[in-house]
Amino acid sequence: MPTPLIDRYRDRLSLEAGDPVVTLNEGSTPLIEASRLSERLGVRAYLKLEGANPTGSFKDRGMTVAVSRAKGRGAEAVICASTGNTAASAAAYAARAGLRGAVIVPEGKIAIGKLAQALMHGARVVALQGNFDDALRIVRDLAGKHPIELVNSVNPYRIEGQKTAAFEVVEELGEAPGALAIPVGNAGNVTAYWRGFQEGGAAPVLYGFQAEGAAPLVHGAPVAEPETVASAIRIGNPARWEEAMAAFTASRGRVAAVSDEQILDAYRWLAANEGVFCEPASAASVAGLLAHGMPVLEDAAPPESVVCVLTGHGLKDPDTALSKAPAVVNCENDLSAVERAVFE
Ligand code: F0G
Repeated sequence: MPTPLIDRYRDRLSLEAGDPVVTLNEGSTPLIEASRLSERLGVRAYLKLEGANPTGSFKDRGMTVAVSRAKGRGAEAVICASTGNTAASAAAYAARAGLRGAVIVPEGKIAIGKLAQALMHGARVVALQGNFDDALRIVRDLAGKHPIELVNSVNPYRIEGQKTAAFEVVEELGEAPGALAIPVGNAGNVTAYWRGFQEGGAAPVLYGFQAEGAAPLVHGAPVAEPETVASAIRIGNPARWEEAMAAFTASRGRVAAVSDEQILDAYRWLAANEGVFCEPASAASVAGLLAHGMPVLEDAAPPESVVCVLTGHGLKDPDTALSKAPAVVNCENDLSAVERAVFE
């Protein structure tokens, strides 16, 4: 059984001594070698399966720490804005801690699995007639007005928890990878990885990827109406903008955009060729490497290995999967009909 992330790394997190541990045994996710991807990229490639966390995304790493701290300081409720995964995770950890939870999501723009999770865990789910950026602005104001703990990645404990994924990567490989590829939305996760690597004395080249229709960091300006099939990263004004850009620069990496078509191609390819079903936003990390390669600054040697962070599980978004997958084969209840259906 995996050890709760806080028990594994407590001395490297900034929790208070008396804080309780609110946990679902998150973290310790698989890092697997991806031989077909390695072949395509011409470099040793690994996949970090963050969809294997208890609620199916990397958000649980930050949430265990943020909700433990919230509970430790006597909070009674938590709130977040979300494109879905933060909502699912916040709702689950709030339920675990005995806190009330409220989540504000963009109406009609979150994957159905994430909505089901938030509702089942008993959070109040508010569908906003606006986008994620509007929702984040509103929850920041609300958290200033009411005694409710904000658990978006503007909360420092979220970043603290999420940095542990970098610790795990280095521990598992026995060294730092040459590079790390990661999807970028609100830019908390890339910020957290960089902090984790730095604290572990590592400095892989960071390649961040945004969806073409939601690529403010690539354009250098906020996007008023972000659009992409990868609903998890449909964000036009990332909260951790400066820190993420500083991380790309310090790591001698960069942020680039991938089209929805490239994202969906990588999404299907990973499922069919590596046996790994991630959500569309997660596939942006692989799509980006396939589209852009791994450019390095002039005087640098090319990285010999790359870890792609697959941030969330494919089951989160069955609608996108089914709309992109081949049709099922309907069949009569009869041996020869089944035979034809299977072998033809
Ligand atoms: N991948 C997935 C599956 C996500 O859910 C998110 C963010 C990201 C990547 C990007 O991470 O924001 O730290 O740069 N989801 C947030 C949410 C915004 O509300 O669930 P980031």
